[in-house]
Amino acid sequence: MTQDIAWYVTLVLIGLLTVVFLAVISSSASTATYEEVAKRDYAHRGKLFWLILAAGVIITTVTLVPWPHSASARHAPARVVEVMAAQWSWDMSEQEFRAGEPLEFRVQSKDVNHGFAIYDRNMTVRAQIQAMPGYTNVLHHSFEEPGEYKVLCMEFCGVAHHNMIATFTVLPANN
Ligand code: CUA
Repeated sequence: MTQDIAWYVTLVLIGLLTVVFLAVISSSASTATYEEVAKRDYAHRGKLFWLILAAGVIITTVTLVPWPHSASARHAPARVVEVMAAQWSWDMSEQEFRAGEPLEFRVQSKDVNHGFAIYDRNMTVRAQIQAMPGYTNVLHHSFEEPGEYKVLCMEFCGVAHHNMIATFTVLPANN
């Protein structure tokens, strides 16, 4: 979503820049004196100032409201699962969970980028996050369905990429 916003803002700014260039080109043949141009254009400076100020305040307020960005700040306390990826295996600190249990996967990599992707028994991806050397990426998830789940690597990471498979079990919820 942030990327989309950045993309549209960039497009708008490119458009504005283009308009400025076109205005300069189209007025380059004008023979009006400096005084005439200043009188005509400076008349709007006051209004323009308040317009930019208002736009700045509104845009700043709207874009700062979703902060903090940290996903963990919006989640209930969860059981922490340490995940270490390496060529070509997954090392998970826990292999048994309860349905409905809030989980926090802390995903790291020993070597290169891997893709930590959790598949259910129908091989549908339920959650995924990148495993990157030097970073701890946090994935919050809780499983609705009890059963066997598989972790497969989603990022090509070498000759045995397809062998990076781990399994874990989700037990029925405690009632
Ligand atoms: Cu690890 Cu592909």
